[in-house]
Order: sequence, then structure tokens, then C-alpha cells
Amino acid sequence: MSKPGERFRPIWIDHQSDVVKVIDQRALPHELVIMDLNSVDQVIFAIKEMVVRGAPLIGVTGAYGIFVALKNGKDNADETYIKGEAGKIRKARPTAVNLSWGVKRTLSAVLSEKDPSRQIDIARQVAGEIAEEEVKNSRNIGQYGVKLIREIAREKPGKPVNILTHCNAGSLACIEFGTATAPIYAALEMGIDVHVWVDETRPLNQGARLTAWELGKYGVPHTVITDNAGGHLMQHHMVDMVIVGTDRSTYTGDVANKIGTYLKALAAKDNNIPFYVALPSSTFDWTIRDGVADIPIEVRDPDEVRYIPGAAKSRDNLLMPETSPAANYAFDVTPARLVTGFITERGVCKASETDVRRLFPEKV
Ligand code: MRU
Repeated sequence: MSKPGERFRPIWIDHQSDVVKVIDQRALPHELVIMDLNSVDQVIFAIKEMVVRGAPLIGVTGAYGIFVALKNGKDNADETYIKGEAGKIRKARPTAVNLSWGVKRTLSAVLSEKDPSRQIDIARQVAGEIAEEEVKNSRNIGQYGVKLIREIAREKPGKPVNILTHCNAGSLACIEFGTATAPIYAALEMGIDVHVWVDETRPLNQGARLTAWELGKYGVPHTVITDNAGGHLMQHHMVDMVIVGTDRSTYTGDVANKIGTYLKALAAKDNNIPFYVALPSSTFDWTIRDGVADIPIEVRDPDEVRYIPGAAKSRDNLLMPETSPAANYAFDVTPARLVTGFITERGVCKASETDVRRLFPEKV
């Protein structure tokens, strides 16, 4: 069994070959497949098809995408070329703001240098720095978030703290520790008795496939539930708190996360259960005020809903009548009023403009 914090990463650079490597998350939990990212097309494929996924990870992948673009462009990698490649990478997925943030940060560092071989070194270095920062952010989120779990544990001695989470905001999504999972791993290390309800997260089952895999690997007691079970569990006092991640949160406190998060927040409010969102500062959008109106929501291929994911598109794996249309909204937005608080690398705050500004005064 692995220990939380043991170096386990979904993306890295192989220093001998100078090739970017990623865990193909589509194959988990049954197979550990490693994929090389050798071209911008492969980077875009990996992000779009969710070989890599989760907001911080796609930010880091986007940053490494600039490195890959420069390596392939060699002497022809002028400003027009690199800006064009960056534009393509940024568009690979629309909701997680980390992607454009990671690309933009790497691009501006690269463009401050004219020598092509230095540009490659800079891109490699900046992408690596972003990855290390996300690891540090996650660790800090864990340290702040665990205090909330400890408070609940004190109120119910001898009984586990039951935490519900949605999708995968773990090591796989965030380089190490995770965001939503970081406080849980920190609690485990402190000897606090925790149990996690894992929403399966239809249609791609990131909860059932990935969060359950990670929690099992680290020895965290957990139970996978259907997406619609959370409300029932909350009514019956079987959930003490909810912690989820986010793909983009506004500085006013609105939270975009995997589809179904909003319904969990509504049920939590109705049952007086704290609903926390764990995020690094790279996931804040400092330009959008109204998340419901203005955060772009990815709409994916309806076949992800129609067929059993990962299985061949055969009639046996078709979940509905052949002629029925399906819609696949990948994210929703939980308004700030339903969010008890943000757990960030700088501390816990209310999901409000005033409190977010207080924690990150340099950003807005
Ligand atoms: O479509 P995905 O799997 O990339 O969606 C991921 C999520 O919704 C996560 O909860 C979110 O990225 C937070 S990860 C720290």
C-alpha cells in the first residue's frame, strides 16, 4: 500500500529521452498505461480525450505542450508559430481555467527569450515549476483542510468522519495529494478515522474508476455510490461534510465542477451539511463575476452517455434505444451561496469576493 505524499505523478519528463510521459487515465483502474506526448497533436488528443484530466493536471500538460511545440518547431519556431500552437492547446478543453493559465504563463516566459534552444529550456523549466507549485499547493490545502475534518472528528469521538466527494480531485488530477483529497490524506496521516463516499460520476466514472483506485491505494476507507445516492445519505445523517474540487471558480465564489456537483450542494444546504470546495489559486478566474452566466461549460460527445464508457460501441453496450438522442453537459456551476467555504493554499475562506480578495490581494 502506498502512503499519501509518496511520489506518484500523472505527468513527468523522462530526463534521458527528454520526453513528456503521462498516465493514460482512460485505462485505470485495471491497467497502468503510460503514454508519450511527442507532438502538439498528441498533447491536444491527451487533453481532449481525457488521457489526462483534472484542472491542475491539464494546466501542467498545457505548459508541457509549449515545450513539445518548441522541440518540434526547432529553428522554425518563431513567435507566430508558437503563438499558433499555444492557441490550439488552450482550446483543447474550455472549462478548466488552469489550461489557459498554464499555457499563457509558459508562453510569456518563452517569448521573453529569442534564442530557440534557450526557449526550449525555459518551457521545460516553467512547466516543471508549475507542477512543483501545484504539489505544494495541494500539500497546503491538505494542512488547512484537515483542521475542518478534525473539528468534526472531535464532535463524534469513536466514529468516522464521513466525507462525500464527486469526480476525481485527487493525485491523478493534481500531480500529488489532490485538492479535495488532500485534507483526507492529511487526516489519515494524523490518525483521524475517516470514510469517503465516492460518487461514481457518470458518464465517465472518474469517481468509481479513479478516486476509488487512489483511495484504495492509500488505504482510505471508502464506498462507491451512485451519483444520485448522496441526497439520501445526507437525509440519514451519513454524511458529515462534502469536499469537492473545481475546474474554475470565480473570485466572487461561484464554482464550476463536474456535472452533478450543483445537485450535491443543494442537497447539502437542505440538510445543513458543510459543502467545501478545495482549490489552488491557479483555478480561480479573476475576470469573471457571474459563474452561472459566464463560465464556459464543456459539452462532450453524447456517445459517452449512450454507451458504457471504455467498451466497444456495440449494441450490447448501448444503454438506451438506438434512436434516442443524449446530451452530455460535462460541468455545472454551484452558486457561491451554496458553498460553505474555499480551502486554498493560503487558508480557508468564505466563497465571497471580500474573503477571496483578502486571501489573494495581489490578484484582483
Ligand atoms: O472532466 P474532468 O475529469 O477533467 O473533470 C475533473 C473535475 O471535475 C474535477 O473535480 C476538477 O478538475 C477538480 S480537480 C482538482
